[in-house]
Amino acid sequence: MNPQMELLAGPLAGRVAIVTGGSRGLGEAYVRMLVEEGARVVVADLLETEGRALVDHLGERATFRRLNVTDQSNWQALVGEVSTELGVPSILINNAGVHSFGTVIGDTYENWRRVQDINLNGPFLGINTVGAAMANAGNGGVIINISSTCGIIGYADQAAYVASKWAVRGLTKAAALDLAPYGIRVHVVVPGPFSTPMTEPFHAELTELVKSQPVQRIGDPPEAARLIRYLILEATYSTGSEFFVDGGAMTGMSLPAAGE
Ligand SMILES: NC(=O)c1ccc[n+]([C@@H]2O[C@H](COP(=O)([O-])OP(=O)(O)OC[C@H]3O[C@@H](n4cnc5c(N)ncnc54)[C@H](O)[C@@H]3O)[C@@H](O)[C@H]2O)c1
Repeated sequence: MNPQMELLAGPLAGRVAIVTGGSRGLGEAYVRMLVEEGARVVVADLLETEGRALVDHLGERATFRRLNVTDQSNWQALVGEVSTELGVPSILINNAGVHSFGTVIGDTYENWRRVQDINLNGPFLGINTVGAAMANAGNGGVIINISSTCGIIGYADQAAYVASKWAVRGLTKAAALDLAPYGIRVHVVVPGPFSTPMTEPFHAELTELVKSQPVQRIGDPPEAARLIRYLILEATYSTGSEFFVDGGAMTGMSLPAAGE
């Protein structure tokens, strides 16, 4: 492609990306950004109605595939179909996740395992299948996992979610080391509170919580998408590390009377 055509098509022209949980929320913002930058994007989600409406709106660069991230055979079918139809993916965003309330003594083992299965085993299966295809193709790639401020400190009454999001950071370190020889970078993004369908049920509580962080507001999904864009296109000397988009929430604490 000549440089002028490339400018028109965007810096990700010719690249194939998979975004899990891309039908809504933060994942939708990542999908929109990737399409704008010229990638062919696969929205891989359980939510078919929302996902299909999104790709219809975005046009030919976006396609929907039903994926349950906990199902290994779903992943194998996805990577096979996408590689044949669009080309081997070189971008994977392991974004699908579920939130869950419950204390370490109040939660059920069943719920604990469900949350680990989606939030941790899902990204593992994504790397294990799509990462393997990237490695075999030999063209490098970028994998981005999504943790949370709940993966940096503890939060009461969210035991399963906190543990799963800490584990995603460990998975990222292991994957970054294992995949570096193939030219594949692996990053982990740490979002703070964002307005999405996931946080809608406790929006009022988040509105209170953000008053104690340096940037005193809830985040807007495109703000997270801009960090994802940076990681894909610019962060060529980074792998294995954490990138925060949290309104400064993890910076530290202020005394209530500070400055008076
Ligand atoms: N919203 C926030 O404030 C916030 C903060 C920190 C981290 N995160 C993380 O960001 C990611 C996206 O969160 P969100 O707020 O957009 O959530 P959301 O609930 O709005 O969207 C999550 C998407 O994941 C999909 N999904 C869930 N289980 C799936 C499965 N088994 N297989 C395939 N898809 C599945 C859902 O269908 C949905 O489309 C999650 O990993 C979440 O933990 C969100």
